[in-house]
Amino acid sequence: MAERTATLTLDGKTYDLPVLSPSAGPDVLDIRKLYAQADVFTYDPGFTSTASCDSAITYIDGGKGELLYRGYPIDQLADESHYLEVCYLLMNGELPNRQQMEDFEYRITRHTMVHEQMLNFFRGFRRDSHPMATMVGVVGGLSAFYHDSLDINDPWQREVASMRLIAKLPTIAAMAYKYSVGQPFVYPRNDLDYASNFLHMCFAVPAEPYHVEPALAKAMDRIFTLHADHEQNASTSTVRLAGSSGANPFACIAAGIACLWGPAHGGANQACLEMLREIGSVDKIPEYVARAKDKNDPFRLMGFGHRVYKNFDPRAKVMKESADEVLDLLGVQDNPLLQVAKELERIALEDPYFVEKKLYPNVDFYSGIILEAMGFPTSMFTPIFALSRTVGWISQWMEMIGDPQGKIGRPRQLYTGSTARDYVHVDQR
Ligand code: SDX
Repeated sequence: MAERTATLTLDGKTYDLPVLSPSAGPDVLDIRKLYAQADVFTYDPGFTSTASCDSAITYIDGGKGELLYRGYPIDQLADESHYLEVCYLLMNGELPNRQQMEDFEYRITRHTMVHEQMLNFFRGFRRDSHPMATMVGVVGGLSAFYHDSLDINDPWQREVASMRLIAKLPTIAAMAYKYSVGQPFVYPRNDLDYASNFLHMCFAVPAEPYHVEPALAKAMDRIFTLHADHEQNASTSTVRLAGSSGANPFACIAAGIACLWGPAHGGANQACLEMLREIGSVDKIPEYVARAKDKNDPFRLMGFGHRVYKNFDPRAKVMKESADEVLDLLGVQDNPLLQVAKELERIALEDPYFVEKKLYPNVDFYSGIILEAMGFPTSMFTPIFALSRTVGWISQWMEMIGDPQGKIGRPRQLYTGSTARDYVHVDQR
């Protein structure tokens, strides 16, 4: 029995709602029995006030601009750790010792190739397909190749499927890119670390050796870490809902990729860079800020605002530092897009509209600038977000599947349609 309860009074009756206390964040009203007791639903489109599950993986304090992966602050992990170590942490709950890290890295490295027959999948797409369309199709298609890891009730099969997904997503994303530019696929290499391998698969060509610049590999690895998980966001909630029906992990991750594609979510990094390019110069910024504030104009400043953060997105801060480092390294620090981005951020953060609505730059605001400087086309920004987030989706999926109280997710509704009426024959209409 919960120590505290909230009391709901409705039509002269009172109902006690248990109050559950988290290890951090707001208390939770347990309404699981409300419909059975009071014959009423709660109403929360967009789930702005709803906790959909228990989770011990990622904590966000939107007011403070705090993001913790298993309790570790994101800025410390971005500075001190690396992506595969963060993958181990998110999946297992603790940082690995040296042996655990070596074993984990060995297994991931040796799952990076895809079945050779998957190359035919790509050939079914047009060359100008968006890489996200290719990724949704190919990742879902993994279900057809790995029949030995589809039984979600077998912990070993769950783990093998998880390792395969984390290992193969960079390969599939790189293949989607190569296919879109008409270049041959580049196989993964076991002598390269995760981020270097991805850069090599994207930018190497058979005609000459490709040298991975260590500083760029580090920046790539940091981008993977910053995007790894983020509590119950739209795509993670999609993966959990798909997983709650018992769907196999490959299908669930494909569903997450599809949801992430939207410009209000993971597609914002592509949309943000396209917006910066459309603004084009600092003197055009006031016009676009005015449009973003105009209720009759659907335009929004892409890369600004967040459902949870009402302060700086801590990932944006790290990304901004990375942008300066990468552009300095590449000698493009006077990148006009970066100048527009920095001036847009300055103007927006002083504008009363954005201040009142607590609209700050989010993770997508600076990431596109770095990725473009590294040579990626805008169409590859969201695929990179998707491959980074795969470990978060997988960790949340494993947590859900492992929950003994787990049940299929099935929300109800506030019905506003016609009540029962009899069919009318077409001659009487
Ligand atoms: C990600 O959930 C996650 O954790 C997501 C993510 C993750 O890691 O998984 O963090 C990744 O998706 C980051 C967000 C990327 N999206 C964008 O950058 C797109 C632009 N942002 C907006 O579409 C918007 O801010 C959302 C979708 C991100 C959040 O929207 P909310 O919380 O549903 O808030 P809202 O749309 O109700 O906006 C509140 C008010 C509105 O004004 P009013 O109706 O109150 O007058 O703020 C305004 C909005 O019009 N507003 C903006 C704005 N974002 C919100 N006005 C101008 N420009 C914007 N970007």
